[in-house]
Amino acid sequence: MRWLIVEDYEALSGEAAELVAREVREKPDAVLGLATGSTPVGMYQELIRQHQAGNLDFSRITTFNLDEYVGLSATHPQSYRVFMHETFFQHVNVQPERIHIPCGDAADLDEECDRYERAIQAAGGIDLQILGIGGNGHIGFNEPGSPVSSRTRVVDLAQRTITDNARFFASIEEVPTKAVTMGIQTILEAKKIVLLACGASKAEAMQRMLEGEITPGVPASLLREHPDVTVIMDRQAAARLS
Ligand code: F6R
Repeated sequence: MRWLIVEDYEALSGEAAELVAREVREKPDAVLGLATGSTPVGMYQELIRQHQAGNLDFSRITTFNLDEYVGLSATHPQSYRVFMHETFFQHVNVQPERIHIPCGDAADLDEECDRYERAIQAAGGIDLQILGIGGNGHIGFNEPGSPVSSRTRVVDLAQRTITDNARFFASIEEVPTKAVTMGIQTILEAKKIVLLACGASKAEAMQRMLEGEITPGVPASLLREHPDVTVIMDRQAAARLS
């Protein structure tokens, strides 16, 4: 596992974008695993900038998002599908048929989870997975206690996650309590993983991830057993590391 501690969010976004850009240049048909949330927004902006400057072509890549809320339609403003479209996809040349995001309002969610796993396999697996980290150490929506062997499935969100994500909704009552998420095993099967952490609210999670016990109680700590993980964090997120 490599760690990179950078000065601020701009530097973090630049470093993360560089890793993605390098992957896409080396493998134009790469399969990218993507994350939502606040942390990767600057990375997406930098990737858009490079694309618009004519330096980065996404026309052959395939994408799989980590997760989606259960119960929100694909057009709901807080759905991750809308977030990804507005934050990234509509600004670059990813082919719509190569974009994959779990359908959180599928009639049969278990079948949707199986379909998602099969689609990842059919694409040849994920080459580079981008992750954020929850304040409780979650990755994707794999909350503390998620089994290492877990695959894409419906999960209950932890109360801390609901509280943390209430900032995106008009009130906490509107935050969905369930999500579809890739599992820990799905994530660990990615060939390369890049985890981003920014701000003081992530300092405790980073300390537990990097210096605590490797345990499903801190899902991000399980990444320490993966052979190719790069962690990029700003000084505030790194503040508690010894
Ligand atoms: C998002 C996801 C989550 C977030 C995490 C951090 O697709 O899977 O694990 O990465 O909750 O969110 P932010 O970046 O908003 O702090």
